[in-house]
Amino acid sequence: MIVRPLILLLLAAAMSGFVLHAVADGQATPGRRTPARPGLTTHPYGKTAEGHAVTMFALTNTHGLELHAMTLGGIITSLKTPDRSGAMGDIVLGFDRLDEYLKDPPYFGAIIGRYGNRIAGGRFSLDGRSYDLTTNNGPHHLHGGRKGFDKAIWQAAPSASGAGVTFSRTSPDGEEGYPGNLQVRVSYTLTDRNELIIDYHATTDKPTLVNLTQHTYFNLTGDVAGDILGHELMIRADRFTPVDATLIPTGELAPVQGTPFDFRKPTAIGARIDQSAQQLVNGKGYDHNWVLNRSGQGLEPAVRLVEPKSGRTLDIATTQPGLQVYTGNFLDGTIRGKGGRSYSQRTGLCLETQHFPDSPNHPAFPSTILRPGQEYSTKTVFTFGVAK
Ligand code: GLA
Repeated sequence: MIVRPLILLLLAAAMSGFVLHAVADGQATPGRRTPARPGLTTHPYGKTAEGHAVTMFALTNTHGLELHAMTLGGIITSLKTPDRSGAMGDIVLGFDRLDEYLKDPPYFGAIIGRYGNRIAGGRFSLDGRSYDLTTNNGPHHLHGGRKGFDKAIWQAAPSASGAGVTFSRTSPDGEEGYPGNLQVRVSYTLTDRNELIIDYHATTDKPTLVNLTQHTYFNLTGDVAGDILGHELMIRADRFTPVDATLIPTGELAPVQGTPFDFRKPTAIGARIDQSAQQLVNGKGYDHNWVLNRSGQGLEPAVRLVEPKSGRTLDIATTQPGLQVYTGNFLDGTIRGKGGRSYSQRTGLCLETQHFPDSPNHPAFPSTILRPGQEYSTKTVFTFGVAK
């Protein structure tokens, strides 16, 4: 009988992990190795100068996608996805070693809090009281201050189901000037639909501000084979928030129509980035918040990014009202990342789903105030695929 050896062969193949490999668009590529057991593993990743141990979590799914994230800053250090031929490549900027992450890099892969982006003059008032935050960006407060959530060591635990990790910490009353003890939880879940789901939760014991986001620099070429200028970006937004020369919103919600900020149809990031429009001069490229077109409070599609050469795609859906697009304008080649590659200007693209910058000083912007008894809860889903 020929059936028996065939069954045995299939069994052996499945056990060794040598199975049909389903890629993002649902097609199957025979013969590609997938991890023996999709899920979660952890390992020690060294210690900080103060002697705090850092743990690395590795999440994998059944299609071989692999994400590494650590307890320092909840930093996503690598994310491997297939290109159109099935070859895996790392699509995020970062470093090989912990000590490099401890040298104050520009927020590679990190959770940002308490407040993503700038608060003008580091000042805001809430319920008639004014607060002074630390200033760390000229006269302004940026990404939570001198020691934001990106520099904290988080507690972490595997999520209850699937390949997931939940980071948590208490940001103490007064941290960087913010009122209230803030209990924060951020979870990363890698699904077999090739999604990375990020859930953010927070509660407070005093009225405070919260605007959490994730600062991964994407580069879909894989292993930084090129810059991000050829990536085609589509943003579902009719308006954006123009900024002054110090990147603080003017308060206006300006139409994108007829400007280099119109990404309603897929457009290469590099197509207009060097035009002389004052807003591009202010941002040194794109460093702006788009006002997402929304019809309700739920998860809604916001972004599609396509890298034509590798075929890699990234779709983003979110519950958030805004998207900060940062085209790595301040990268200047002095930082050497993974494999010793130097990260020059525009080698990474941040797509930060969040509330608008400086919201506390613009009462017309959606509110970022959290009060005791309320729960801050937002979700962003990144889906990785391949273009046909
Ligand atoms: C954000 C800001 C940028 C810059 C980067 C980090 O995205 O909008 O201006 O500060 O973070 O370098």
